[in-house]
Amino acid sequence: MNDLVRRWEEPPDLPTTHFLDNRIHTDWDVFRAEQRKLFGDCWKFLCLETELSEPGDYRVSEVGGFPVITVRAEDGALRSFFNTCPHRGAPLVRDEHGRLKRGFQCMYHLWTFDLDGQCTSISRVEGYKAAGLTKEKVGLRPVRTAVTCGLVFVSINDDIEPIEDFLGPMHDHMKKHLAAEELEVFHYHRAEVRTNWKLWVDNNSEIYHDLMHVLNRKTGVAHPEYHERRWRLYPNSHNVILEGPMNYVSAGLDGRAEHTMPGISSNGMMIMEVFPDVMINIRATAIRIDSITPMEPGLSLIEYRGIGLKSDSADVREMRVRHHNQIWGPAGRNLPEDIACVEAQWRNMSVGASRYSIFAREEELRPHDDSNLRAYYQEWGRRVGYWPHDIEASRQPEIVAAAAMGPTLSS
Ligand code: FES
Ligand SMILES: [Fe+2]
Repeated sequence: MNDLVRRWEEPPDLPTTHFLDNRIHTDWDVFRAEQRKLFGDCWKFLCLETELSEPGDYRVSEVGGFPVITVRAEDGALRSFFNTCPHRGAPLVRDEHGRLKRGFQCMYHLWTFDLDGQCTSISRVEGYKAAGLTKEKVGLRPVRTAVTCGLVFVSINDDIEPIEDFLGPMHDHMKKHLAAEELEVFHYHRAEVRTNWKLWVDNNSEIYHDLMHVLNRKTGVAHPEYHERRWRLYPNSHNVILEGPMNYVSAGLDGRAEHTMPGISSNGMMIMEVFPDVMINIRATAIRIDSITPMEPGLSLIEYRGIGLKSDSADVREMRVRHHNQIWGPAGRNLPEDIACVEAQWRNMSVGASRYSIFAREEELRPHDDSNLRAYYQEWGRRVGYWPHDIEASRQPEIVAAAAMGPTLSS
């Protein structure tokens, strides 16, 4: 084989923690393992608590492939259930979100349920008398729900650890920035993006690609202080890039000196990455939260939220929306560039024209260091049971078993 071809085909000459087998983004077996072992065994961000403010307000989601509905009950608590009727499996609601006036009524045979998941009526119930079925014997399947720092999380693992334990030290960052005042969504859009969900995580997690964005080169990379920030890596691979100032004026934008979000300095920027799919990005005057629902190896539903304070005056809110949209809105400077990139990456990976990805930068946890991504994929591999650098080797049962026992997949 030609040496140049061999160099392309063979794994990079790097530690196995420093590159990925790109089939982790394209393989259906890996995808199914992720759904079951990762999303099925984690806390999954749903929405802000203020998006479900009144009794009956609901929102649906898909967690590890399971349909889930989360609703504000009459007692003020949030409850979640499988969005599935116990009679014969029809969905309880079909809209993505809304407000229920009188609990749930299944579309198929019109059984009804209250917001606590109890069955309140069975149509023509007399027909069940002989078999002894009553409404007390059926109800909705509960799903774990947690609220912290104004964010709602759900989990289909009934025995999942408390959200505070799952977040660990990350929780302190979240409390500082998200819990000080009530938050409110001012922008929401969702997009089906033709890429693997982890490529969006990468894009949100690696700051090296600031080199791609003209805006980020001018506001960040060109300024020495940009390079002095550091990543903090936490258990469960939650990762934070600590705050540093951006120079918006040098890109012809408004400065972001006033009405900054809680805990953030003038023109400050920081990012909190919550495993496995959530990015909380604060740019001084606005917060952006992205979360992802994998649909297929090459198809991901991405939800984008722009967030301000519930107490904002009309003028301040208008400013936050403007600042958000300049960079992150659907027609902002950065978002279309990011989407173009991750879709093109996936196209190349899906035909085998890109076998490996390199994550080998070591810069003492400075912004362009890849340590956070290396930590992410070690945690990913530990949970999913695949070696991130070689999915074929992972399919050998003894290796999968060893991976499940060990703290990391490093070798
Ligand atoms: S499937 Fe819901 S009432 Fe029959
Ligand atoms: Fe980007």
